[in-house]
Amino acid sequence: MSTAVPKASETAQREVKDSTDKNLTSQPSDDVQSAPPEVLLTQMITGSLGAQAVYVAAKLGIADLLADGPKSVGDLARAAGVDPPSLYRVLRALASCGVFTEHDDQVFDSTPAATLLRSDSPGSLRDLAIFMGEDWHWQVWGHTLYSVRTGKPAWKQVHGEDVFPYFAANPEASGIFNRAMTSLSNLAIKAVVEAYDFSGIATLVDIAGGHGSLLTSIMNANPFLRGVLFDVPHVIEGAKENAAIKALSSRCDLTTGDFFVSVPAGADGYIMKHIIHDWDDERALQILSNIRQVMKSNASKCSSHLAARNAPPPNTKTFSHVRVSTLRVSCRQSHRTVLSRRGLRKGRRTARREKTIYHFSFWHLAGKPAVFI
Ligand SMILES: C[S@@+](CC[C@H](N)C(=O)[O-])C[C@H]1O[C@@H](n2cnc3c(N)ncnc32)[C@H](O)[C@@H]1O
Repeated sequence: MSTAVPKASETAQREVKDSTDKNLTSQPSDDVQSAPPEVLLTQMITGSLGAQAVYVAAKLGIADLLADGPKSVGDLARAAGVDPPSLYRVLRALASCGVFTEHDDQVFDSTPAATLLRSDSPGSLRDLAIFMGEDWHWQVWGHTLYSVRTGKPAWKQVHGEDVFPYFAANPEASGIFNRAMTSLSNLAIKAVVEAYDFSGIATLVDIAGGHGSLLTSIMNANPFLRGVLFDVPHVIEGAKENAAIKALSSRCDLTTGDFFVSVPAGADGYIMKHIIHDWDDERALQILSNIRQVMKSNASKCSSHLAARNAPPPNTKTFSHVRVSTLRVSCRQSHRTVLSRRGLRKGRRTARREKTIYHFSFWHLAGKPAVFI
């Protein structure tokens, strides 16, 4: 037995049929349904202001400056090297949303949400906030209309080259992107580790696994597992600095390559997270086919997309399918047709952790249970 099967644990998992795909991406959460329409729309229309305010606080390290207690705006502005009245307005706006709290005399303190902007807090979202607000990324979202009009990636329109070559040529932006991906992974990791039983897998490959936080978490929870982290060369260079990778060096290999050409062969488990949605049909199928080609016949594959159904808008899953960075959103139906010809069938599962629901899709070789996150 060398396949991984989803655990039927009491963490309230439930099967969701493939046919609900559409609902998974378009059903509004309960919060959305209960909000007055003008409130809902105003929140969305002005949402970019909130994102920039969080970005400014994250970039300036305000939450880190408040780690050992409340500080006045004057002290914070001095430490960050910025204009005090302008910083005050941003912090007051954030405090009105529960990110920071204001005491008398323009003194600010941390809150649970602000703590997540600290660079050292478990589950920190600081890097994600920085990634979303950096000028080179912000401009791309400002060209969403271009993508909708042309079906082409706005990234190339803005930067003159595609997103991953851009990161290869811009180490600072690449570092921010990879740390942001790690932040996003950290949101999903516990649910993945709890949701699936990896006990049948001897070697697990994470295809385009970034800096390896998902893979190393799965390996730490499953000490029998060997891991292979696969990504492009400059990302693997960054992964070498990951303390979790260093700690697991005796059973984790780092491999570089191009998933459009080939992927590491012969493992009995493959996972991919936040990959397929980046590519158009042709390229998505190339990746999936390259994995299918080298899988052991009894291997399992996972693909994952984090989606918090009960989060307020914008829903991370549906918005990540608005492709401004890479190519047009790929068509799941066509993946299913091609892969089913190669013996793979698709299933879907959800796992609930606290108030968040995570969706996983998995593909299995006919007759064998297998996982795709
Ligand atoms: C959206 S990130 C996801 C990273 C990671 N799986 C995660 O969820 O944090 C996409 C990843 O695909 C990698 N990638 C892009 N093009 C690639 C290629 N041609 N071959 C291998 N990896 C590639 C990027 O370097 C990046 O790490």
